[in-house]
Amino acid sequence: MAEKTWVRMVTAQTPTNIAVIKYWGKRDETLILPVNDSISVTLDPAHLCTTTTVAVSPSFDQDRMWLNGKEISLSGGRYQNCLREIRARACEVEDKEKGIKIAKKDWEKLHLHVASYNNFPTAAGLASSAAGFACLVFALAKLMNAKEDNSELSAIARQGSGSACRSLFGGFVKWIMGKAEDGSDSLAVQLVDEKHWDELVIIIAVVSSRQKETSSTTGMRDSVETSLLLQHRAKEVVPKRIKQMEEAIKNRDFGSFAQLSCADSNQFHAVCLDTCPTIFYMNDTSHRIISCVEKWNCSEGMPQVAYTFDAGPNAVLIAHDRNAATQLMQKLLFCFPPSSDADLNSYVIGDKSILKDAGIEDIKDVEALPPPPEIKDAQRCKGDVSYFICTKPGRGPALLSDESQALLHPETGLPK
Ligand code: DP6
Repeated sequence: MAEKTWVRMVTAQTPTNIAVIKYWGKRDETLILPVNDSISVTLDPAHLCTTTTVAVSPSFDQDRMWLNGKEISLSGGRYQNCLREIRARACEVEDKEKGIKIAKKDWEKLHLHVASYNNFPTAAGLASSAAGFACLVFALAKLMNAKEDNSELSAIARQGSGSACRSLFGGFVKWIMGKAEDGSDSLAVQLVDEKHWDELVIIIAVVSSRQKETSSTTGMRDSVETSLLLQHRAKEVVPKRIKQMEEAIKNRDFGSFAQLSCADSNQFHAVCLDTCPTIFYMNDTSHRIISCVEKWNCSEGMPQVAYTFDAGPNAVLIAHDRNAATQLMQKLLFCFPPSSDADLNSYVIGDKSILKDAGIEDIKDVEALPPPPEIKDAQRCKGDVSYFICTKPGRGPALLSDESQALLHPETGLPK
């Protein structure tokens, strides 16, 4: 190895994903092996992503990590499993310009620094661990010159958080549950890339909640132990749904896509209700959003919007096209206007062009919106939604070659 002064770094950006056929339940808690396949859509990293810089230097005396600027412990089993698996795949690295040569066997002794940053609030319950673990594994694989492809890397990210394996690809992604006891065949594959169905528009309603939700990990453990509906779902329902969903995505058949997504989200929440002690992730606002979407879909005679909810009250709404998204935005802003002190600019974030298409430029335009005709006596519930994020299906992980985007200092390897 060269003298003790160098720092080698890599920075990557990885998207988050939302499942349209849900993963809920593990058959192996340590390896994180699921009881059924799942399918997700990757969200545009411009609006929801994790950026991670990983660094190695002979001057580091321990592995350290900073998340959103605060140092966190890497001692947890999930981090340790990911670090061990990726170190085992490290290869020789040579950078003649900087005089760096790291032999394969050196990686066992060298320590790492990791800094990670989410471009969305971690507390909003928007699958930050999925993007986080996927980014950690992807960035380390590049730093260590690992030869594995993204599917093989997904099987490592899976051991950080199950849903993370699906963030190794853009577009629509399937996590194949696999059969092997060692988990080697439980990995993600891309079904189609983000260009295949690019007219879809995604609006996320971040729903205000005072309640601390049961974590996915604890919730699914309780469901596996107590819910008979989960057994039936995993054995009888999901295998058929996965095939139908793959067909719907391949054919861009929005009617089937919406019907399957909504039904699967509802069944996942029914499993939660069937769990002992019972789990409620959705709240009254979530239910009102479902009702608003269902009334509209019914009145149109065919689905315009699909909804799906994860382990929290936030709604992820997938609109058929821009026209549907524009109308949806108007209906949502009528039913869920911002609280009096909020400004529109921070109430609708992400791709603001949807607002423009909807003819909404300031708060007066929101106040003047007509009630959705399909909802009788539509109520306006101020403050029940914290904010909306407008986005779309997006690409998979990417390396950021511009050093100014690194989160660690190139000389010290400490947070900037
Ligand atoms: C409801 O991946 O967060 O979002 O594997 O225990 O880390 P762990 O759980 P996690 O669970 C996600 C559950 C879900 C559905 C899904 O993303 O498929």
